[in-house]
Amino acid sequence: MSTQTPTMAKGLDGVIAGETAICKVEQHALIYRGYEIADLAEYASFEEVAYLLLVGEKPTAAQLEAFNDELKGERGLPSHVRDQLKNAGELVKKHSAVPMDLLRTAVSVLGHFDPECQDNSPEANLRKSKRLLAKVPTVIGHMQNAIDGKDYVEPDDSLDHAANLLWMMTGQKPSPEAVKVMDVSLVLYAEHDFNASTFTARVIAGTLSDMHGAVTGAIAALKGPLHGGANEAAMEMLAEIRKDIGPDNDPKKIQDWMHKAFEDKRKLMGFGHRVYKNGDHRAPILHALGRKAAEARGEEFVKLFDLGEAVQKIMLDEKNIFPNVDFPCGMTYFTMGIPVPQYTPIFVASRVSGWCAHISEQHANNRLIRPRVAYTGPDLRKWNA
Ligand code: SDX
Repeated sequence: MSTQTPTMAKGLDGVIAGETAICKVEQHALIYRGYEIADLAEYASFEEVAYLLLVGEKPTAAQLEAFNDELKGERGLPSHVRDQLKNAGELVKKHSAVPMDLLRTAVSVLGHFDPECQDNSPEANLRKSKRLLAKVPTVIGHMQNAIDGKDYVEPDDSLDHAANLLWMMTGQKPSPEAVKVMDVSLVLYAEHDFNASTFTARVIAGTLSDMHGAVTGAIAALKGPLHGGANEAAMEMLAEIRKDIGPDNDPKKIQDWMHKAFEDKRKLMGFGHRVYKNGDHRAPILHALGRKAAEARGEEFVKLFDLGEAVQKIMLDEKNIFPNVDFPCGMTYFTMGIPVPQYTPIFVASRVSGWCAHISEQHANNRLIRPRVAYTGPDLRKWNA
């Protein structure tokens, strides 16, 4: 074996691979452009947070109103994408697509119809960010309508971002409580420095490729269960535990299930984090809101949270591993009646704000991202030996 580079960090663990003014992820705090996440979750709407990430400062009331109007004006999809999404039901039920794949393709195609697709200037990037932010929920909604075999539910201009997303997915006007939970989850998911999908977006943008291409790549990266796909996987794991142990949260059965998982060296979905070793700041915020929603919905949902809490306690007591944001997200979105395969697409609806901010930041101060690798292949040999 020969190596070309003196040091290597598998998974780029601990490597500082760039700089950003957008977000700071630390053991003791998560900060978006100077504002702490608990502060934002309590007082800021998702639209305000998206503006903060994209523009750099919190909006004034007038700036927010103009931003909201712009987003509402951009919610509609090109007819080509609308037609394409009509096949969502068939692609999911008869072929191998999942909603994250359909969303990835739709965002790629949205680029074809964006008049500024090839323009990477800061002004064009900001306009494209708003268009993507506005259109992704419509893609999710229309896709879900098609999967349900229903007509499209069109965007409703009287509804803000989170409420409109829930409306388009279900055709029912959501309660203020459901809107609040969705809005806070979008705030929590919006940005997280050099996570795998954002890093993907920055690598793509670093070649001076376009925003739609970078977001398309980021969606592919987010889909995996080690990253954003964990919110779906966490809920699937809880459903599996429920199926295996039955309707009661018998502590002995939960413990046996967990010990078997440890013996099998299973990765428990929604637990662990590359950066946070003492807990993910977002998880308790979403957990508390989700639990409240479950209490309002009834016993089945409360028992799901009880089960989740028992699983968390065993993970912490026996492995010293904390839940990440995806663990309470799975239980919370389930309580809200959202279909499991849409959990990660909703993560996209939020994180697109962070991705677009990073793509713009990369374009504004670019250097190609091109690390080295330790070669482990054969030594030099002759083809005609
Ligand atoms: C997100 O990076 C971001 O910021 C991402 C994110 C964002 O907002 O963008 O926060 C969103 O992606 C959250 C993470 C979602 N993924 C999961 O929940 C999947 C399950 N988690 C793990 O696979 C894992 O914890 C990762 C992928 C999240 C982190 O992987 P690392 O940093 O490479 O850590 P590791 O896999 O090397 O684990 C270190 C140790 C290992 O034990 P040892 O071999 O040292 O004995 O901790 C154990 C692991 O086995 N471990 C777990 C575990 N997570 C870590 N063991 C069981 N179940 C787990 N979930």
